[in-house]
Amino acid sequence: MSYEHILVAKEPPLAIVTMNRPQQLNALSLGLVKDLSLAMQSLDQDDDVRAIILTGGEKVFAAGADIKEMAALGPFDEPVLQRLAYRDRINSISKPVIAAVSGFALGGGCELAMSCDIIIASENARFGQPEVNLGIIPGSGGTQRLTHLLGKHTAMELILTGDFLSAADAERFGLVNHVVPAELVLEEAKSLGKKIAAKPVLAIRAAKQAVLKAANAPLDEGLDFERKSFYLLLSSEDRKEAMTAFLEKRKPELKGR
Ligand code: CAA
Repeated sequence: MSYEHILVAKEPPLAIVTMNRPQQLNALSLGLVKDLSLAMQSLDQDDDVRAIILTGGEKVFAAGADIKEMAALGPFDEPVLQRLAYRDRINSISKPVIAAVSGFALGGGCELAMSCDIIIASENARFGQPEVNLGIIPGSGGTQRLTHLLGKHTAMELILTGDFLSAADAERFGLVNHVVPAELVLEEAKSLGKKIAAKPVLAIRAAKQAVLKAANAPLDEGLDFERKSFYLLLSSEDRKEAMTAFLEKRKPELKGR
């Protein structure tokens, strides 16, 4: 399937999704967000794909929602509601999603990166939630995710000033996993993706769900979820094979079951 605003390259076990509106700094128009949602849902169902890399290319990740498009919208206009539905679908992908961020990741772009599971940033990456400058606030999780990740005071300063965070500060605050030179950001994301893709797929899916639960649920609920997932995995073929292979000092032959 081809898309108007993004490029999708399958490199099993990975898929690389590249936002592709360079003239508008990958501003997240409704069309682009729809493409992302459709592509990522389709890749989530694709057995050849074990992890998804999301990038904006070498110059910019995404400079936020498309302000030209947004300027004319009222709160109950259909595109606003559609956008929220597309974003929810992007957030519900079960496979690991790794963001490879170069350049600006602002507003909805920063929120999109934060909704990924792991973030690799290039040294030139800049993160920010400048929505207050436009008379709005972050609307796709920025106030919540930044506060969870950075703590109240740092998140508050960033969101109230609209200032940008450098890649080095983003790493220091734990917003991104690793910072690498610009020319290596995609390679680093791919290498991490391949490492994860080589693991037992059911364990990876359950581990992602369990970690996400930690951000959203009280500790007792999260512990209960983890325990149930743990027991469920004891019945998987891959877990039997992986443990047998360990004892027999050989590589496991994983089946994804
Ligand atoms: N929406 C639409 N177009 C955008 C855009 C955006 N978010 N960001 C940049 N562009 C366009 C510019 O209008 C410009 O187009 P033209 O060449 O046709 O004039 C082109 O991209 C290049 O941008 P600049 O000339 O401004 O580039 P710069 O290097 O001087 O500045 C920048 C880069 C600091 C990112 C600046 O473009 C900027 O501040 N952009 C807006 C960032 C922003 O406010 N994002 C939050 C949007 S609101 C949101 O995201 C909320 C939500 O999800 C619901």
